[in-house]
Amino acid sequence: MKDQQLDVLIIDMKEKIELLERRNSELLEESRRVEGEKRYVESELFRLQKEIKRMRTEMERLKSPPLIIGVMKDILSDGRVVVKSSTGPDFIVGTSEYVPAEDLVVGARVALNKQTLAVMGVLPPSLDPIVIGAEIIDKPSLTYSEIGGLDDQIREVREAVEDPLLRPELYKKVGIEPPKGVLLVGPPGTGKTLLAKAVAHQTSATFIRFVGSELVQKYIGEGARLVRELFELAREKAPSIVFIDELDSIGAKRLEVATSGDREVQRTLMQLLSELDGFNPIGDVKIIGATNRPDILDEALLRPGRFDRIITIPMPTFEARHEIFKIHTSRMNADRTVNLAELAAKCEEATGADIKAICTEAGMFAIRDNRDTVSMLDFERAVAKVLETEETKCVESGVMFA
Ligand SMILES: Nc1ncnc2c1ncn2[C@@H]1O[C@H](COP(=O)(O)OP(=O)(O)OP(=O)(O)O)[C@@H](O)[C@H]1O
Ligand SMILES: [Mg+2]
Repeated sequence: MKDQQLDVLIIDMKEKIELLERRNSELLEESRRVEGEKRYVESELFRLQKEIKRMRTEMERLKSPPLIIGVMKDILSDGRVVVKSSTGPDFIVGTSEYVPAEDLVVGARVALNKQTLAVMGVLPPSLDPIVIGAEIIDKPSLTYSEIGGLDDQIREVREAVEDPLLRPELYKKVGIEPPKGVLLVGPPGTGKTLLAKAVAHQTSATFIRFVGSELVQKYIGEGARLVRELFELAREKAPSIVFIDELDSIGAKRLEVATSGDREVQRTLMQLLSELDGFNPIGDVKIIGATNRPDILDEALLRPGRFDRIITIPMPTFEARHEIFKIHTSRMNADRTVNLAELAAKCEEATGADIKAICTEAGMFAIRDNRDTVSMLDFERAVAKVLETEETKCVESGVMFA
C-alpha cells in the first residue's frame, strides 16, 4: 500500500519536474529574445543620437552669418592685411589663424567675417563656367590619319603650333620669335574643325576650345572679360593651344554705323587683339582660329603678328576625295563591286562633309533593302541623292535671293 503511494508520488514529482523544465526553457528563450531587443534598441538610440548631432551642426551651419567676399590689397608688416570688399572703402583687418599664411597674397579672393571683416578663408580664383568648360579634358579620339588629302596643311599647322611648344630651342638658335598661331580658312565642310580636333588628340599640350559666338554675351564688357579669362586659363595651364572656331562671329569688320550689340562684339574683338599681341607675353600659348568667311574678317586680325600663318583648306582634289572615301568606308561592309576611285571622279565639287554624307546614305540604302553589304549601286544612288539635293538647294536659294 505504501509502495503504491510512493509510486504515485514519484510520478507526480516527475511530471512537476518536466513542467518546470519546460517552463525554464521557455523563460530562457524569452530572456534571449528580450536581450536581442535590448541590443536593437541600444543601436537605434546610438543612431538617433548621431542623427541629432548631425542636425545640430547643420543647424549651426545654416544659422551662421554670411561671409563677405573681398580682395586682398596689401599685407602690413604687423601681420594685419588691407582688404577691399564690395561695400566700398578699404579696411585694415586681422586674419583667422586657420588661414595658411602662404595663401594670403595680394590679389587673392578672400571671405570676410560680416561684423569684423576679419579674413576667414581664401577662395580659389573665380573663372566663368564657360571658361572652365572650354578646356578639353576628354580628348576626341581622332588621329591625323583620319583626315584625307590635307597632308601639307597638317604639316603647316604642326610646324606653327606644336614645334614652338615642344622645341622652343630651335627658334632661339635662329633668333626669331615663334609664330603665335594659325588661321584656318576654307569653304564649309572641308575639315577645319576636324583638323583642330586631331591636333587636340595628338598634342600633349592643354587644349582649350571655344566657339566665337559663345563670347557674344548679353551685358556690356562680359565678352571681353571672357576673352581675358580664357587667356588667363591658357597661360596658367601652359603649354596650351587655344582653338577659336567660327572666328567670323566676333572677328567681323568694324564698321562706322553699328548698333550697341555690334559695339559689344567689337569690344570683345579688341580684347582678343590685345591678348594676341598686348602687354602680357603669351609665351607658351598658341592660337588656332577657324573660319569659312575670311572675306568679312577685320584687317587687324589678319595682319602679320596676329595669326602668323593663314592656312587655306582647299576643296578636295581627286586624290583627296579618294583618300576621304577610303577613310569613311574603312569601317563599312562594302562588297567587291565598289570602286572608290570611280566614285571620287564622279563627285567633283564635293567636300569632305559631302563624302561622309554619301557614305552614310549608301549604308542607309543597303539597310532599306535588308542587306548587310553595301554595293556600288548604293553608292551611285547616294551620290545622286546628296549632290543633287545640294544643287537644288543652290537653285532654291538663288531664287530666294533673286
Ligand atoms: N579632309 C577630310 N577627311 C575626312 N573627313 C572629312 C574631311 N573634311 C571633312 N570631313 C568630314 O566632314 C565633317 C565636317 O567637317 P568639319 O566639321 O571639319 O567642317 P568645317 O571645315 O569645320 O566646316 P565649317 O566651316 O562649316 O565649320 C567631318 O566631321 C568629317 O567627317
Ligand atoms: Mg567648323
